[in-house]
Amino acid sequence: MQMKRYILANKKAYDATAKEYDKRVKEYAYLDKLKVLRVLRLSGLKKPSVLELGPGSGLCLSYFEKYGTRKTTAIDISPKMISVAKKRSPNTRFIRGDFLTTRFNEKYDIIFVQAFIHLFPLSDARRVLRKIYSLLANNGFVFIATTIHEASSEDFSRKKDYTASKNTVRYRRQWSQKDLLQEIKPYFSLAYKRYRNERKYKKMWMGLYLRKRHRSLPTSNP
Ligand SMILES: C[S@@+](CC[C@H](N)C(=O)[O-])C[C@H]1O[C@@H](n2cnc3c(N)ncnc32)[C@H](O)[C@@H]1O
Repeated sequence: MQMKRYILANKKAYDATAKEYDKRVKEYAYLDKLKVLRVLRLSGLKKPSVLELGPGSGLCLSYFEKYGTRKTTAIDISPKMISVAKKRSPNTRFIRGDFLTTRFNEKYDIIFVQAFIHLFPLSDARRVLRKIYSLLANNGFVFIATTIHEASSEDFSRKKDYTASKNTVRYRRQWSQKDLLQEIKPYFSLAYKRYRNERKYKKMWMGLYLRKRHRSLPTSNP
């Protein structure tokens, strides 16, 4: 199947930044560890299975591996990111591919989605949310984090916060808090919400800790 243009652009951009991501992990180590521990605690699940979407350098996966999960799986479109992540999280099963076009044969207790949902145009972001819902076990738990903005918008743009990707263009959606919460509401209920002001890059992050709602969805492709 041919990849969509925006998916190809994102793959190229993240292949270009993989080495720099790897070097920068120390900046995020403390916060990522806290997030993983909070997800595990709030989920209340014992020895859960975890799926991470777009793990990048694999830092969060390394904490999941360390802190009492039964098994960890991750999917990333960038082969270069996967080779970086594999070194950090050697016990994870990595799937190389586009989340939306990959078939999964199992369900997961926890799905971890950091800095990922904003890489899709609205119509595909809706498919991502729906697919997360369908891959989540009953009583499953989800973490979604993205930057938030005054108003939603989306387009191809340069990724300026990494030297290696200054000349590559990727697809980026800026979510308003209201719009994202509205899209999430039919699938998940909010257990906890946290903001972080990343002053260095002038970004406001929102982390959503979510429980799966029980509802029946009409059947169609996720
Ligand atoms: C911004 S990085 C986030 C990395 C990590 N989650 C973090 O918070 O540091 C986004 C990651 O998602 C991957 N990605 C982008 N689009 C994808 C897709 N359609 N399917 C799977 N992975 C994708 C990229 O290759 C990249 O590793």
